[in-house]
Amino acid sequence: MKIEHTMQTRHQLHFGDARKMKAIGDNSIDLVVTSPPYPMIQMWDTLFSRLDPPVAKLLTQNHGMAAFERMHAALDPVWSEVHRVLKPGAIACINIGDAVRKIGDDFMLYPNHARILSRMLTTGFQPLPLILWRKPTNAPNKFMGSGMLPPGAYVTLEHEHILVLRKGSKRDFSETEDKQRRRESAFFWEERNTWFSDVWMGLIGATQRLADNDIRKRSGAFPFELPYRLINMFSVKGDLVLDPFLGLGTTLLAAMATGRNGIGIELETDFRETVAGSLSAVPSIAHRRLSDRLADHLEFVQQRTAAGRTIKHRNRPYGFPVMTAQEVELVFHRPKTVSQIGEDAFLVDYDIFQLEDCRRPPPPLTENRPPSTRSGTRPSQGLLFE
Ligand SMILES: C[S@@+](CC[C@H](N)C(=O)[O-])C[C@H]1O[C@@H](n2cnc3c(N)ncnc32)[C@H](O)[C@@H]1O
Repeated sequence: MKIEHTMQTRHQLHFGDARKMKAIGDNSIDLVVTSPPYPMIQMWDTLFSRLDPPVAKLLTQNHGMAAFERMHAALDPVWSEVHRVLKPGAIACINIGDAVRKIGDDFMLYPNHARILSRMLTTGFQPLPLILWRKPTNAPNKFMGSGMLPPGAYVTLEHEHILVLRKGSKRDFSETEDKQRRRESAFFWEERNTWFSDVWMGLIGATQRLADNDIRKRSGAFPFELPYRLINMFSVKGDLVLDPFLGLGTTLLAAMATGRNGIGIELETDFRETVAGSLSAVPSIAHRRLSDRLADHLEFVQQRTAAGRTIKHRNRPYGFPVMTAQEVELVFHRPKTVSQIGEDAFLVDYDIFQLEDCRRPPPPLTENRPPSTRSGTRPSQGLLFE
């Protein structure tokens, strides 16, 4: 089948409460990537108390476990909605950190990942192997408790979880067009070895500073690489990705960068301008990431060849060697322009990222463009980039 040279994706923000996703139909979403506010992490106390006022009282009365449970009860309806809107066979990835906190005299772990996992199972999801995101802390209070004296010293919490769950059994790719989208969305063999490891190292947390700290002191954002990987791992180009806790919009940025459509839901209307503003950076961010991926692959090929080891297959669009037959049709679509087509709606136009683009500087950061007028696609010309 021929490769489409151009492509468009659509992205929609909804400012509202994800506990009732009225605007989203049943069985309509291909992937959820999200990170909720973390129960029992202090920065979210005010938000949970707004969602469920008794939470504030429980915290002041030192009822830590009861507050933990009520905070989760405020998240539970979102997980039911996620199940409703996902297509059968679609996946949900939930980034969640546990909390450690002293309430009254009791220092405790509040196991957020276990509570959410258990809720997802009752909701009907199938659990898949999950990822530990190792996130070393430099905090001065890293070693907590009784110092060098047993038994009251506490293990340092230096990881978060990424839960991976599926609605029902495996997704079907029987249509010819779906098979082609899937083959073009392949990742490199050597990327698979890192991305599908159950411990992610070296992924640095995102900056937590907010330009407008009237909204909130810290953003709670995850780094771009986190949704970027998950979207590449668990969806194909042209899919529809949802983040019901959008925050600053990192998941939408990654959906745009990977050629997926996106929907984001966020309670905080004050984030509207920040999210819309950051989306214009997508062509530049994607250019850097795609350049790095191609450069890393070429280096991998060079090292393997230098070590006298063979690489049997050849990628058709780029002409370079690849390890498996599954990578033969892999091709990168790169976002060229992001156009705002309504207050909360965006259109992204793509072309194909060429090998020589790696050597070009990324496009400058621009404001969102007016609606795109381009239509139609250019036919494939066989081996494109040799
Ligand atoms: C941990 S932050 C998400 C950060 C996001 N991953 C990013 O990279 O910016 C959680 C977000 O969920 C929002 N939120 C909390 N409860 C919500 C609800 N019921 N509906 C929609 N958004 C909600 C909060 O305002 C907050 O911005």
